[in-house]
Amino acid sequence: MYSTSLLSLLAVPLTALAFPTTSLSTRQELESLHDKYVAAGKQYFGTIADEALLADEQNVGIIQQVFGQLTAENSMKWESIQPTLGGFNFAQPDVLVDFATANNMLIRGHTLIWHSQLPQYVSDITDAAELTEVIETHISEIMGRYVGKIFQWDVVNEIFNEDGSFRDSVFFNVLGEDFVRIAFEAAKAADPDAKLYINDFNLDSADNAKVQAMVTNVNKWVAEGVPIDGIGSQAHIAAGQGSAIPDAIKALAAADVAEVAITELDIADAPAEDYQQSVDACTQEPKCVGVTVWGVRDNDSWRPGTNPLLFDATGQPKEAYNTLVSNL
Ligand code: XIL
Repeated sequence: MYSTSLLSLLAVPLTALAFPTTSLSTRQELESLHDKYVAAGKQYFGTIADEALLADEQNVGIIQQVFGQLTAENSMKWESIQPTLGGFNFAQPDVLVDFATANNMLIRGHTLIWHSQLPQYVSDITDAAELTEVIETHISEIMGRYVGKIFQWDVVNEIFNEDGSFRDSVFFNVLGEDFVRIAFEAAKAADPDAKLYINDFNLDSADNAKVQAMVTNVNKWVAEGVPIDGIGSQAHIAAGQGSAIPDAIKALAAADVAEVAITELDIADAPAEDYQQSVDACTQEPKCVGVTVWGVRDNDSWRPGTNPLLFDATGQPKEAYNTLVSNL
Protein backbone atom coordinates (compact mmCIF):
# COMPACT_ATOMS: atom_id res chain seq x y z
CA MET A 1 0.00 0.00 0.00
CA TYR A 2 2.56 2.54 1.12
CA SER A 3 5.12 1.41 -1.39
CA THR A 4 2.53 1.76 -4.18
CA SER A 5 1.66 5.33 -3.27
CA LEU A 6 5.33 6.16 -2.82
CA LEU A 7 6.04 4.80 -6.26
CA SER A 8 3.23 6.76 -7.85
CA LEU A 9 4.45 9.86 -6.03
CA LEU A 10 7.87 9.36 -7.57
CA ALA A 11 6.26 9.15 -11.00
CA VAL A 12 4.76 12.64 -10.61
CA PRO A 13 6.91 15.31 -12.30
CA LEU A 14 8.61 17.48 -9.69
CA THR A 15 6.85 20.63 -10.85
CA ALA A 16 3.48 19.01 -10.12
CA LEU A 17 4.38 18.62 -6.46
CA ALA A 18 3.95 22.33 -5.85
CA PHE A 19 0.21 21.88 -6.37
CA PRO A 20 -2.27 20.17 -4.07
CA THR A 21 -2.92 16.55 -4.82
CA THR A 22 -6.30 15.15 -3.94
CA SER A 23 -6.29 11.96 -1.89
CA LEU A 24 -7.94 9.10 -3.70
CA SER A 25 -10.46 8.55 -0.92
CA THR A 26 -11.99 12.03 -1.18
CA ARG A 27 -11.60 12.45 -4.92
CA GLN A 28 -14.82 11.99 -6.88
CA GLU A 29 -14.53 9.98 -10.06
CA LEU A 30 -15.27 12.08 -13.12
CA GLU A 31 -15.07 11.36 -16.81
CA SER A 32 -12.85 13.51 -19.00
CA LEU A 33 -14.64 15.77 -21.44
CA HIS A 34 -11.24 16.44 -22.97
CA ASP A 35 -10.51 12.77 -23.69
CA LYS A 36 -13.94 12.34 -25.22
CA TYR A 37 -13.53 15.44 -27.37
CA VAL A 38 -10.10 14.32 -28.56
CA ALA A 39 -11.60 10.92 -29.42
CA ALA A 40 -14.19 12.84 -31.45
CA GLY A 41 -11.38 14.43 -33.48
CA LYS A 42 -11.05 17.77 -31.71
CA GLN A 43 -7.91 19.22 -30.11
CA TYR A 44 -9.19 20.02 -26.63
CA PHE A 45 -11.97 20.68 -24.12
CA GLY A 46 -10.74 23.21 -21.62
CA THR A 47 -11.45 25.67 -18.84
CA ILE A 48 -9.87 28.61 -17.00
CA ALA A 49 -7.80 29.00 -13.86
CA ASP A 50 -5.25 31.18 -12.13
CA GLU A 51 -3.09 30.89 -9.04
CA ALA A 52 -5.87 30.91 -6.39
CA LEU A 53 -7.99 28.37 -8.25
CA LEU A 54 -4.91 26.17 -8.65
CA ALA A 55 -4.44 26.17 -4.87
CA ASP A 56 -7.98 24.84 -4.37
CA GLU A 57 -7.82 21.08 -3.95
CA GLN A 58 -11.35 20.30 -5.14
CA ASN A 59 -11.04 22.57 -8.17
CA VAL A 60 -7.69 21.05 -9.10
CA GLY A 61 -9.16 17.55 -8.83
CA ILE A 62 -11.93 18.43 -11.25
CA ILE A 63 -9.56 20.16 -13.69
CA GLN A 64 -7.16 17.23 -13.74
CA GLN A 65 -9.90 14.72 -14.45
CA VAL A 66 -12.18 16.61 -16.82
CA PHE A 67 -10.22 19.22 -18.82
CA GLY A 68 -7.21 19.18 -21.13
CA GLN A 69 -6.66 22.86 -21.83
CA LEU A 70 -6.28 25.94 -19.62
CA THR A 71 -6.76 29.64 -20.25
CA ALA A 72 -5.51 32.17 -17.67
CA GLU A 73 -8.64 33.91 -16.39
CA ASN A 74 -6.88 37.20 -15.57
CA SER A 75 -3.13 36.83 -15.03
CA MET A 76 -2.07 37.43 -18.64
CA LYS A 77 -4.16 40.57 -19.10
CA TRP A 78 -2.24 43.81 -19.52
CA GLU A 79 -3.03 45.26 -16.06
CA SER A 80 -1.71 42.06 -14.44
CA ILE A 81 1.24 41.20 -16.61
CA GLN A 82 2.64 44.70 -17.32
CA PRO A 83 1.05 46.93 -14.66
CA THR A 84 3.73 49.60 -15.12
CA LEU A 85 5.63 50.36 -18.32
CA GLY A 86 8.40 47.78 -18.57
CA GLY A 87 7.42 46.24 -15.23
CA PHE A 88 6.47 42.72 -16.23
CA ASN A 89 4.90 40.44 -13.65
CA PHE A 90 5.22 36.84 -14.70
CA ALA A 91 4.77 35.19 -11.30
CA GLN A 92 1.06 34.45 -11.67
CA PRO A 93 1.04 33.39 -15.33
CA ASP A 94 4.06 31.19 -14.60
CA VAL A 95 1.96 29.32 -12.02
CA LEU A 96 -0.67 28.56 -14.64
CA VAL A 97 1.85 27.65 -17.34
CA ASP A 98 3.79 25.38 -14.95
CA PHE A 99 0.61 23.65 -13.76
CA ALA A 100 -0.69 23.08 -17.28
CA THR A 101 2.69 21.85 -18.49
CA ALA A 102 3.10 19.48 -15.54
CA ASN A 103 -0.40 18.14 -16.18
CA ASN A 104 0.06 17.77 -19.92
CA MET A 105 -2.58 20.39 -20.73
CA LEU A 106 -2.68 22.77 -23.69
CA ILE A 107 -2.60 26.51 -22.92
CA ARG A 108 -4.50 29.36 -24.62
CA GLY A 109 -2.93 32.76 -24.04
CA HIS A 110 -5.50 35.43 -23.15
CA THR A 111 -5.21 38.25 -24.07
CA LEU A 112 -2.65 40.66 -25.56
CA ILE A 113 -4.61 43.68 -26.87
CA TRP A 114 -7.88 44.54 -25.09
CA HIS A 115 -9.50 47.83 -24.10
CA SER A 116 -10.42 46.42 -20.67
CA GLN A 117 -8.19 45.58 -17.69
CA LEU A 118 -5.75 47.97 -19.32
CA PRO A 119 -3.48 50.25 -17.22
CA GLN A 120 -3.96 54.00 -17.44
CA TYR A 121 -0.42 54.55 -18.74
CA VAL A 122 -1.42 52.78 -21.96
CA SER A 123 -4.72 54.66 -22.31
CA ASP A 124 -2.82 57.93 -21.88
CA ILE A 125 -0.62 57.40 -24.95
CA THR A 126 -1.50 59.76 -27.82
CA ASP A 127 1.49 59.28 -30.13
CA ALA A 128 1.19 56.59 -32.84
CA ALA A 129 4.88 55.64 -32.92
CA GLU A 130 5.00 55.39 -29.14
CA LEU A 131 1.87 53.23 -28.95
CA THR A 132 3.18 50.97 -31.72
CA GLU A 133 6.40 50.41 -29.80
CA VAL A 134 4.54 49.75 -26.55
CA ILE A 135 2.29 47.19 -28.28
CA GLU A 136 5.24 45.47 -29.96
CA THR A 137 7.23 45.26 -26.74
CA HIS A 138 4.24 43.98 -24.75
CA ILE A 139 3.63 41.21 -27.26
CA SER A 140 7.23 40.18 -27.83
CA GLU A 141 8.05 40.07 -24.09
CA ILE A 142 5.02 37.98 -23.14
CA MET A 143 4.90 35.63 -26.10
CA GLY A 144 8.67 35.34 -26.03
CA ARG A 145 8.62 34.10 -22.45
CA TYR A 146 6.21 31.30 -23.29
CA VAL A 147 7.39 30.36 -26.79
CA GLY A 148 6.47 26.77 -27.58
CA LYS A 149 4.31 26.47 -24.45
CA ILE A 150 1.21 28.42 -25.46
CA PHE A 151 -0.43 26.96 -28.56
CA GLN A 152 -3.06 29.67 -29.20
CA TRP A 153 -3.10 33.37 -28.37
CA ASP A 154 -6.01 35.80 -28.31
CA VAL A 155 -4.03 38.58 -29.95
CA VAL A 156 -6.89 41.09 -30.03
CA ASN A 157 -10.06 40.88 -27.96
CA GLU A 158 -13.45 42.60 -28.30
CA ILE A 159 -12.49 45.16 -30.93
CA PHE A 160 -15.97 45.53 -32.50
CA ASN A 161 -19.14 47.29 -31.36
CA GLU A 162 -22.47 45.51 -31.71
CA ASP A 163 -23.18 47.32 -34.99
CA GLY A 164 -19.90 46.10 -36.44
CA SER A 165 -18.02 49.40 -36.17
CA PHE A 166 -14.69 49.57 -34.35
CA ARG A 167 -14.82 49.95 -30.59
CA ASP A 168 -13.52 53.13 -29.09
CA SER A 169 -10.15 52.33 -27.47
CA VAL A 170 -6.72 53.88 -27.23
CA PHE A 171 -5.60 51.38 -29.86
CA PHE A 172 -8.25 52.33 -32.43
CA ASN A 173 -8.26 56.01 -31.54
CA VAL A 174 -4.50 56.47 -31.96
CA LEU A 175 -3.69 53.94 -34.70
CA GLY A 176 -6.96 53.33 -36.51
CA GLU A 177 -7.56 49.72 -37.54
CA ASP A 178 -3.85 49.36 -38.28
CA PHE A 179 -3.39 48.32 -34.64
CA VAL A 180 -4.71 44.91 -35.69
CA ARG A 181 -1.94 44.42 -38.26
CA ILE A 182 0.68 45.73 -35.83
CA ALA A 183 -0.44 43.32 -33.12
CA PHE A 184 -0.68 40.22 -35.31
CA GLU A 185 2.65 40.89 -37.00
CA ALA A 186 4.33 41.30 -33.61
CA ALA A 187 2.71 38.07 -32.42
CA LYS A 188 3.81 36.17 -35.52
CA ALA A 189 7.37 37.39 -35.05
CA ALA A 190 7.38 36.41 -31.37
CA ASP A 191 6.10 32.85 -31.86
CA PRO A 192 5.69 31.74 -35.48
CA ASP A 193 4.09 28.43 -34.47
CA ALA A 194 1.36 29.74 -32.15
CA LYS A 195 -2.14 29.99 -33.59
CA LEU A 196 -3.15 33.66 -33.55
CA TYR A 197 -6.77 34.53 -32.77
CA ILE A 198 -9.15 37.44 -32.94
CA ASN A 199 -11.69 36.93 -30.14
CA ASP A 200 -15.06 38.56 -29.39
CA PHE A 201 -18.42 38.18 -27.64
CA ASN A 202 -21.97 38.33 -29.00
CA LEU A 203 -20.94 36.30 -32.03
CA ASP A 204 -23.77 34.02 -30.97
CA SER A 205 -26.14 34.37 -33.91
CA ALA A 206 -25.25 34.29 -37.60
CA ASP A 207 -27.50 37.33 -38.05
CA ASN A 208 -25.59 39.57 -35.63
CA ALA A 209 -24.00 42.56 -37.34
CA LYS A 210 -20.87 41.79 -35.37
CA VAL A 211 -20.56 38.36 -37.02
CA GLN A 212 -20.76 39.96 -40.46
CA ALA A 213 -18.22 42.63 -39.46
CA MET A 214 -15.89 39.98 -38.10
CA VAL A 215 -15.96 37.92 -41.29
CA THR A 216 -15.67 40.92 -43.63
CA ASN A 217 -12.80 42.52 -41.74
CA VAL A 218 -10.91 39.27 -41.14
CA ASN A 219 -11.15 38.41 -44.84
CA LYS A 220 -9.81 41.84 -45.73
CA TRP A 221 -6.91 41.60 -43.25
CA VAL A 222 -6.02 38.06 -44.32
CA ALA A 223 -6.02 39.18 -47.96
CA GLU A 224 -3.62 41.94 -46.95
CA GLY A 225 -1.33 39.37 -45.34
CA VAL A 226 -2.18 39.92 -41.69
CA PRO A 227 -1.34 36.56 -40.02
CA ILE A 228 -4.70 35.70 -38.43
CA ASP A 229 -5.19 31.97 -37.90
CA GLY A 230 -8.48 31.81 -36.07
CA ILE A 231 -11.65 33.45 -34.83
CA GLY A 232 -12.68 32.91 -31.21
CA SER A 233 -16.30 33.13 -30.16
CA GLN A 234 -16.58 33.77 -26.42
CA ALA A 235 -20.20 32.52 -26.11
CA HIS A 236 -21.28 34.01 -22.78
CA ILE A 237 -24.92 33.26 -23.45
CA ALA A 238 -28.39 33.07 -21.94
CA ALA A 239 -30.61 30.00 -21.68
CA GLY A 240 -32.24 29.38 -25.06
CA GLN A 241 -29.40 30.82 -27.14
CA GLY A 242 -27.68 27.46 -27.67
CA SER A 243 -29.79 26.62 -30.71
CA ALA A 244 -28.32 29.57 -32.66
CA ILE A 245 -24.69 28.69 -31.96
CA PRO A 246 -24.21 26.07 -34.72
CA ASP A 247 -25.14 28.52 -37.50
CA ALA A 248 -23.10 31.25 -35.86
CA ILE A 249 -19.99 29.05 -35.70
CA LYS A 250 -20.56 28.00 -39.30
CA ALA A 251 -20.77 31.66 -40.36
CA LEU A 252 -17.48 32.46 -38.59
CA ALA A 253 -15.82 29.36 -40.04
CA ALA A 254 -16.75 30.57 -43.53
CA ALA A 255 -14.15 33.33 -43.11
CA ASP A 256 -10.71 32.89 -44.67
CA VAL A 257 -9.16 31.47 -41.50
CA ALA A 258 -7.81 28.00 -40.79
CA GLU A 259 -9.72 27.53 -37.56
CA VAL A 260 -12.35 28.73 -35.10
CA ALA A 261 -12.92 27.98 -31.39
CA ILE A 262 -15.46 28.53 -28.65
CA THR A 263 -13.27 30.31 -26.15
CA GLU A 264 -15.29 31.31 -23.06
CA LEU A 265 -18.50 29.29 -22.92
CA ASP A 266 -20.90 29.81 -20.03
CA ILE A 267 -24.71 29.71 -20.12
CA ALA A 268 -27.05 31.28 -17.56
CA ASP A 269 -28.68 28.49 -15.51
CA ALA A 270 -26.61 25.95 -17.48
CA PRO A 271 -29.44 24.19 -19.32
CA ALA A 272 -28.16 20.82 -20.54
CA GLU A 273 -29.73 21.36 -23.96
CA ASP A 274 -28.00 24.70 -24.54
CA TYR A 275 -24.65 23.23 -23.48
CA GLN A 276 -25.13 20.29 -25.81
CA GLN A 277 -26.13 22.54 -28.72
CA SER A 278 -23.16 24.85 -28.15
CA VAL A 279 -20.65 22.00 -27.97
CA ASP A 280 -22.30 20.30 -30.96
CA ALA A 281 -21.73 23.53 -32.90
CA CYS A 282 -17.98 22.96 -32.56
CA THR A 283 -18.19 19.19 -33.00
CA GLN A 284 -19.99 19.58 -36.32
CA GLU A 285 -17.78 22.32 -37.75
CA PRO A 286 -14.57 20.86 -39.20
CA LYS A 287 -12.66 24.11 -38.64
CA CYS A 288 -13.61 24.25 -34.96
CA VAL A 289 -10.69 22.99 -32.88
CA GLY A 290 -12.06 23.04 -29.34
CA VAL A 291 -14.27 24.40 -26.59
CA THR A 292 -13.23 26.25 -23.42
CA VAL A 293 -15.74 26.80 -20.60
CA TRP A 294 -15.23 29.99 -18.60
CA GLY A 295 -14.96 28.42 -15.16
CA VAL A 296 -15.45 25.14 -13.34
CA ARG A 297 -17.77 25.75 -10.35
CA ASP A 298 -20.68 28.20 -10.25
CA ASN A 299 -19.33 30.07 -7.23
CA ASP A 300 -16.15 30.91 -9.12
CA SER A 301 -17.97 32.29 -12.17
CA TRP A 302 -17.51 35.91 -13.26
CA ARG A 303 -21.34 35.96 -13.70
CA PRO A 304 -22.42 35.78 -10.05
CA GLY A 305 -25.87 34.46 -9.32
CA THR A 306 -26.39 32.96 -12.79
CA ASN A 307 -25.01 29.45 -12.10
CA PRO A 308 -23.74 29.14 -15.67
CA LEU A 309 -21.12 26.39 -15.28
CA LEU A 310 -20.90 22.59 -15.40
CA PHE A 311 -20.26 22.13 -11.64
CA ASP A 312 -22.27 23.58 -8.78
CA ALA A 313 -20.95 25.63 -5.88
CA THR A 314 -20.12 22.46 -3.93
CA GLY A 315 -18.20 21.00 -6.88
CA GLN A 316 -20.85 18.45 -7.82
CA PRO A 317 -21.35 17.80 -11.55
CA LYS A 318 -24.58 19.25 -12.92
CA GLU A 319 -26.98 17.84 -15.48
CA ALA A 320 -25.22 19.72 -18.28
CA TYR A 321 -21.93 17.94 -17.48
CA ASN A 322 -23.63 14.53 -17.35
CA THR A 323 -25.36 15.21 -20.65
CA LEU A 324 -22.08 16.17 -22.36
CA VAL A 325 -20.40 13.07 -20.94
CA SER A 326 -23.18 10.85 -22.30
CA ASN A 327 -23.34 12.45 -25.72
CA LEU A 328 -19.77 13.31 -26.63
C1 XIL B 1 -13.42 38.21 -16.84
C2 XIL B 1 -12.90 37.43 -15.64
O1 XIL B 1 -13.53 36.16 -15.60
C3 XIL B 1 -13.16 38.21 -14.36
O2 XIL B 1 -12.53 37.56 -13.25
C4 XIL B 1 -12.63 39.64 -14.48
O3 XIL B 1 -12.99 40.37 -13.34
C5 XIL B 1 -13.19 40.31 -15.73
O4 XIL B 1 -12.88 39.51 -16.87
N1 XIL B 1 -14.55 38.44 -21.79
C6 XIL B 1 -13.22 38.11 -21.69
C7 XIL B 1 -12.69 37.63 -20.38
O5 XIL B 1 -12.51 38.12 -22.70
O6 XIL B 1 -11.34 38.01 -20.18
C8 XIL B 1 -13.52 38.12 -19.23
O7 XIL B 1 -13.03 37.55 -18.03
C9 XIL B 1 -14.98 37.79 -19.46
C10 XIL B 1 -15.49 38.46 -20.71
